[in-house]
Parts: sequence; C-alpha cells; structure tokens
Amino acid sequence: MSKSINHLEQSAPKMWSCTVRSAERLTPESVLLTLDPGEHRERFNATPGQKLTFCLDISGQSCYRNYNLVNPVGELPQIAVKHVSDGGAAEYMNTTVRTGDVLQVAPPEGDFYPPALDKTAHHFLLFAAGSGITPLISIVQHALKARPDNKVTLFYANSSSRQIMFREKLDVLAQSSRLDVYHILGDGATGEDLSSGRLNPSKVGRLLAQYRSHQLPEQAFISGPTGFTNAVQNGIEVEAHPLDFASYSFERANRDSEQLSTPSQSTEVHLTVGGVARSIPKASQNLTLLESADLAGLDMPADCRSGICHRCKARIVSGRTTPLSTQNLGTQSKRIPPGYILCCQQKPDGPKLELEMD
Ligand code: FES
Repeated sequence: MSKSINHLEQSAPKMWSCTVRSAERLTPESVLLTLDPGEHRERFNATPGQKLTFCLDISGQSCYRNYNLVNPVGELPQIAVKHVSDGGAAEYMNTTVRTGDVLQVAPPEGDFYPPALDKTAHHFLLFAAGSGITPLISIVQHALKARPDNKVTLFYANSSSRQIMFREKLDVLAQSSRLDVYHILGDGATGEDLSSGRLNPSKVGRLLAQYRSHQLPEQAFISGPTGFTNAVQNGIEVEAHPLDFASYSFERANRDSEQLSTPSQSTEVHLTVGGVARSIPKASQNLTLLESADLAGLDMPADCRSGICHRCKARIVSGRTTPLSTQNLGTQSKRIPPGYILCCQQKPDGPKLELEMD
C-alpha cells in the first residue's frame, strides 16, 4: 500500500456510538434528538456553532450527514432536524430514529464562532431563516452565559409562526433584557411591513438602523438557505458597512440553474484512481471535479458529495483547484492535509490538473 493511501485512511472521520437519549417533536415538522455518548462524552464537548457528522444506515446504504449542535455548551449533545420527505437522512431522523437507538457519530467540528469573541463584550446581531436557527441557537445561549455584558439581537425569519423552531426556549431566554428576538413571518401575520414577507437587503438595512446601538463591538452571524444569506450579506454590505459578519448556508450554492448553464473555461484533468489512469479532457471550471467525473462516466470514489465522508479525497500531483464555495463553512474541514482536496468541493482551475486517488 502506498504512503499516500495510508494517509487517506488515517484522516477519515472516526465514528463513535451514541445512544439516542430522547427524540421529541420540536415543531410538527422537526425533531429534537438528545444523544448520550456514554464513556466518550468528553470527546463530544463542543464550542458554539459546531456540528456533528453522522454515518446513518438507511436501507442498507451508508449515508453521511452533518447537523449543528443546538444544546448549551457543556450539556448532552442535541441536534434538531427539519423533516424533508425525500427518503433521505432528514426523513430518517424524523420518522425512524427512536429513543434507545444507537447512532454512529463523529465528534464536534467547526469554527463558526471564534473563541476570541469571548475576550470582550459584544453585541451579537444574528440572522436566521427556518432551520438556519440551529447553529445560532447555541450562539445565543453561549453569548448570554459567557459574559454578563454581552447583548444579543436575533432576527428570525419563518414562513409562519407554526414553523418557528425553539420558540419556547427563545421565549424563556428573551426574558433577559440582554436578548431581543425579532420574528419575521412570510405569511404577514405580524401585520407590519418590516417583519412580513421575505427579508431583502433594504429591510436588513432598516432593521440594523433600528437595532444597532454601536455601544459595544458588533458581530453578525447569518444562517439559512443561500438566497437568505446573500440577501442579508448584501444588506449589511450596502446599508450597514462596516459590520463584521460570518455566514453559513446549509444549501450548496445554487449552481444547477446558474453556473451549470454558464459557458465556462475547461481544464485537462488526469487522475489515477486505485492505480488506474483516467482523464477528463475538458473538465468545466464551473463544475466540481466529482461532477465532471460523473459527466465523463468515470467511477470516482464518493459517498456524501458534501465534504463530509472524505471518500473523494485526492492528492494534487500538479495544477490547482478552486473551492466550490467560500461561504459554506459547513464544507470546511481541518482534517484535510495540505496538498489534498475533496473532489466534491473543488473545481479545476488552470489549463491542466493531475490528481491521485485511493
Ligand atoms: S467528501 Fe464525501 S464525497 Fe466528497
């Protein structure tokens, strides 16, 4: 076995058995799972905004998914999953997983929330849409507890009040004078223009003009689908600059409709898979390497297609690549050593690229 293959195996995510302590309905369309890692509990201590990777066995197939931790720091790990009726992981978590089940889980990962923020008091301006609340609910809880002088303002967009996740928890937390929760409802039930319908850059500017106090250093966090995170970012950049922000989108960038149909430059890609030489003469620089391999009919090792399982990891022999998205922090991983890439998360760049895979 070559040295590079050993390296690949060593960096695959290690899973630990966690028992489902409870599975409760959070909303009619989402479930809250509490996990007990047993003797491995210390491995599952997390910082705010981190996530867990699961390896689920769905109909005999391994399925890797990651979910944000929603528990307060120091308590048993919890995740909240919104139901999607597609036979995938979200449906499995909502309809199949029961108290007492044992799931395979990798320890927390992610650096959405920089620990340096705890050194001084801040005003946190949080923007969430739908299940995008999941990385932010742990930040709300942490920020209120970490420092008595922190202040938090949460702008939370949902299609209707029925969809609001963590409503009771937020109501309790909002008894603190240091937390303001501002609900925005797509169905217009609030009766006010600013808190009704879709959040757009202009509304973001108006909200920030109303809620920024400038008395403390400010930090914004944004989490939701790509359209939402783009709208909030644009609002901050156009209407409220300067304001530091970190953004997390749980969707892949909307490439199907835009980039896939845009004419692109191409790269000559040569890859060795398990010792067998293959090539993609014209790999589009708009597509990931995995997508180009699919189009070329090459059978490349892959599973999750979202930067989790590392099965598509490759060593760059020569040439360069660009990341699929610099916004989606969910696809970043510190486990990828220098000189390696995940083919599902990188696009080819330059005239020629040479890769080696297990
Ligand atoms: S990381 Fe799983 S397929 Fe790329």
